[in-house]
Amino acid sequence: MCGIVGYVGERRAAPILLDGLQRLEYRGYDSAGIAVMRGGQITVVRRKGRVKGLSEARSLEGKIGIGHTRWATHGAPSERNAHPHVCGKICIVHNGIIENAAALRTACEARGELFASDTDSEVIAHLIAAEKGDLLHAVRAACERMVGSYAVAVLSQEEPETIVCTRRASPLVVGCDGDGLYVASDIPAIAAKGRKVYVLEDGEFSVLRQGRPPRFYSGALLPVEKTEIDYDAAEDVPAKGGFRHFMKKEIAEVPEAVSRSLPDLRKGEYSALYEVLCQTKYLHIVACGTAYHSGLCMNYVTHRFARLPAEAYVASEYRYMDPIVPADTLLVAVSQSGETADTLAAAALAKERGAKVLAVTNVPYSSLERLSDFVLPTYAGREIAVAATKSFNAQLAVLYAVAGAVAAGRGLSAPPLAPLLPAVREALAMAEQVRSWVPYFVGAKSVFFLGRGADYFAALEGSLKLKEISYLPSEGYPAGELKHGTLALVDGRTPVVAIVTDPVLADKTMNAVHEVYARGAAVFLITNVPECLSCAEVTASVLLPKCEPAYSPMITSLPLQMLAYYVAIARGNDPDKPRNLAKSVTVE
Ligand code: F6R
Repeated sequence: MCGIVGYVGERRAAPILLDGLQRLEYRGYDSAGIAVMRGGQITVVRRKGRVKGLSEARSLEGKIGIGHTRWATHGAPSERNAHPHVCGKICIVHNGIIENAAALRTACEARGELFASDTDSEVIAHLIAAEKGDLLHAVRAACERMVGSYAVAVLSQEEPETIVCTRRASPLVVGCDGDGLYVASDIPAIAAKGRKVYVLEDGEFSVLRQGRPPRFYSGALLPVEKTEIDYDAAEDVPAKGGFRHFMKKEIAEVPEAVSRSLPDLRKGEYSALYEVLCQTKYLHIVACGTAYHSGLCMNYVTHRFARLPAEAYVASEYRYMDPIVPADTLLVAVSQSGETADTLAAAALAKERGAKVLAVTNVPYSSLERLSDFVLPTYAGREIAVAATKSFNAQLAVLYAVAGAVAAGRGLSAPPLAPLLPAVREALAMAEQVRSWVPYFVGAKSVFFLGRGADYFAALEGSLKLKEISYLPSEGYPAGELKHGTLALVDGRTPVVAIVTDPVLADKTMNAVHEVYARGAAVFLITNVPECLSCAEVTASVLLPKCEPAYSPMITSLPLQMLAYYVAIARGNDPDKPRNLAKSVTVE
């Protein structure tokens, strides 16, 4: 949530900040701003809306500055609530939430200090401005009073060649090359060939001073030696590659994401993990949103083939439910970004209670990766569109493999995963057909996605995708549950998407099709059971290739992603940047 970038060095700061913010926009895009310092004077330019609204700031002179792109938590998206925030000689940008901001603000106001925004962040500038001593000590003293999560970068007119930055429970990285020093909330904002990048740990500080290497300090301000991370700058340059939107490009990349992500868990590097999987007695899966849906899919597969009592939890619920974590529990934390605050907290809690933590994440060096005992990367490549697509399929590849290893450890076996690869490729080609369904959905009152077994999880994901980018109300529903109340909502303005991939359950789901058709709904079918196609009540259908029913969300997700994409476009929305959302949800 929100993106931070900062620069001090030999070049003009403004273009570097704006380019960095552009690369960070997937983190939030309701307002943006930069502050550039020159001759001890700070100029702040902020705008409601996207980073491109700051283009006039590109000409600002000055070789030091900080910038921010915002996803509003406290205070509406507006120019006055956009960062950077200034108090006296101090200027800050902040990601995260200061939970005691109200109390701190009241104390500042009691001293006669005036606030210019409704944000929790502004109080940080006030706290720092009230401290004595150099900027580093002032920032540290302010941090001691703050409760919550933060990544902060700070400028001071008193130290016109210095940026001080720090973090707690919100990521921050520092970079340097011959031209200068950089700070950002994400590696891609400052990634470049030949540039060294360092990851700040919780509670650490960094001082970036023109002409010197970056300095790192512990919470007690003792010097810390850091090793640069090994990242692939080439991979970090996102491009649409001829596609109109990143989302479409990323759906097209699903087959590659899946084949790259399928791990061979018996291989050397994963052998320790394989041992743990074989001995696991309890499996907890925590995640949010789309990653939660992939967790549900894994849960299903684990039940089916490993006969293990697994449980998938929404991470934000898990962390507050006082979970029972028996000995030999493996907690699988699934997160594309590796920075989702709720998932991190749930994983940390389980770890505290004795569980081993396995991270399944798409982002190397992410916070989740660093807190986990084991990591299984998804190799989906960077996902820029806010709606998760290829990362979902890549997660399934990894999670199905994990379930297979758990089954093997219990003397059982799961069906092979290799046949999924050609099926995914074929499904992608078929998925385009849903484009012709769009007229039925554009003006719909609401949409239902129905399925049973694994198809139900695909229905949940199809519905989330549609809601997220088309803004149409919709629900993913177990097909057998419809008659217990929900049918009341179905009429001629509620198209229904039925997903049918398990021949054993096909008739049951088709019963639901008859029920909704009888209430006037137009029915659209995603299936690989050819017998279902003969149903005269179906308006249109996509016939997908055969695959193991328990693994079918891997292929049914493709037409579902595509449907959401085309409906969003037809409704005039930007599918890459849906309203009110952000790619990485680093606040609770
Ligand atoms: C949906 C979507 C979100 C994320 C959720 C978890 O398309 O993108 O629901 O799946 O915020 O994010 P990660 O996987 O980064 O933890």
